[in-house]
Amino acid sequence: MAKGVFHVIVHATALLCCTVGICGETEELGTCAKDDGVDCGSRRLEVTPVITKLDGVEVGHVQDVILGGKTHQMMTLSMKPQVLEIKHFLTDEECDHMIRLAEKDGMFDSVTNTPTKSTNVKIMDMNRDTVLNLREFILTIENSFDIYLDEDDMLKMYSDLGMDANSDSKSRILKRHIVRSELRILPTFQLSYHFSADISRDELHGQDPKSVIDWLTEYVAKRPHKKSRMSRQAWLYPSKIRDKVLDGIQERVISLVGLPRILMDKNDEFQVVQYGPKGHYHAHWDSGSWTENYPCCHHLKTGSGQRCKSCRFMTVLLYLNEVEGGGATAFPIANNETFDEHSFRMSGKINLHRHCEEANLVVPAEKGKAIIWYNHHLDPTTGWVGELDSFTLHGGCGVTSGHKWIANKWILVSDDRGKDLDPNFRPNRT
Ligand code: OGA
Ligand code: FE2
Repeated sequence: MAKGVFHVIVHATALLCCTVGICGETEELGTCAKDDGVDCGSRRLEVTPVITKLDGVEVGHVQDVILGGKTHQMMTLSMKPQVLEIKHFLTDEECDHMIRLAEKDGMFDSVTNTPTKSTNVKIMDMNRDTVLNLREFILTIENSFDIYLDEDDMLKMYSDLGMDANSDSKSRILKRHIVRSELRILPTFQLSYHFSADISRDELHGQDPKSVIDWLTEYVAKRPHKKSRMSRQAWLYPSKIRDKVLDGIQERVISLVGLPRILMDKNDEFQVVQYGPKGHYHAHWDSGSWTENYPCCHHLKTGSGQRCKSCRFMTVLLYLNEVEGGGATAFPIANNETFDEHSFRMSGKINLHRHCEEANLVVPAEKGKAIIWYNHHLDPTTGWVGELDSFTLHGGCGVTSGHKWIANKWILVSDDRGKDLDPNFRPNRT
């Protein structure tokens, strides 16, 4: 257990409290999820378990954490969001073993949706000028089809489909070529060309949506790295495979995070991910916002088909190998004053092939290292999980050479404390 993580909360009517509960008046002490020796008193007490976070104190702060008798150093990389790093959390042998287990289990493509004819396309005319400029069209495709195109891809689509009837993009292509050749003479000039090939409402309406969808489908089939994510993955369940090494890792994670054991036991899986060359995962949130009115996916029956949101209070990310090139984890908006999702999307910085190094926090992949962060705030009134922390936006930068292996452990917590802590309520495994 990490030093200084015990949050002893004294309820107004109680004497003392165990580490992860609030003592009340009606039930017995036994309901406390973990008793670390603090006495709730001899009276019958109601215990309302609460969720706690490790305290990173400030950026650069290093604290000792003793896990399984071994002292590790945990360093604070960022406070907004709080990202903590522990180098050598896993031994080289443990990393290799996890990779072997995943390979043995069978890796499959990490799925994202492919364009379908029934997709509801929302036209992203952000400035409402009835014309889609290049960035707005790119955004429309990102949102509807989960395909991340750059300017060159778009111009190819316009030209292949004869979309730009008034040819303003063609004159831009020409202009860009001139600019590019000028750039050869000025090698220090930043290679960024912003030009606005516009598609008017008439041009858009003159286009059969099917032709666009067919074009996109064919285009990404040959270029899978244009999807929001390109990787392969496997799920490892310590309780199912009964592997001593995996059990040891699971126990280490449990003692690190200091959360009620029942939460950890109910959601014990690791997701092992392999990125090949050009593999990546563009910026995203691991969890959903409480304002999204869907149930948590882990509270639904497997295969229910119902729309749901991920409810992942915490992410523990383990790096399983040294990556030859690229593959850092980036937090593009860490420590920003404010965050506006629309302008962030318009900036294109979601694309971590192109904009990895511009991220405010970039964590290199190092074999055996763990980083952890909390996808949600705490709700001080309930002592449970609160709203999504937008600043946790993050992703995996493009792998430029070699492979990258990681393992994710997500600690699933919903806004329904009763269900999360009910030992008879088994979550769905997705
Ligand atoms: C993820 C993720 C980051 C990385 O798998 O959800 O954000 O560095 N991965 O691979
Ligand atoms: Fe993630």
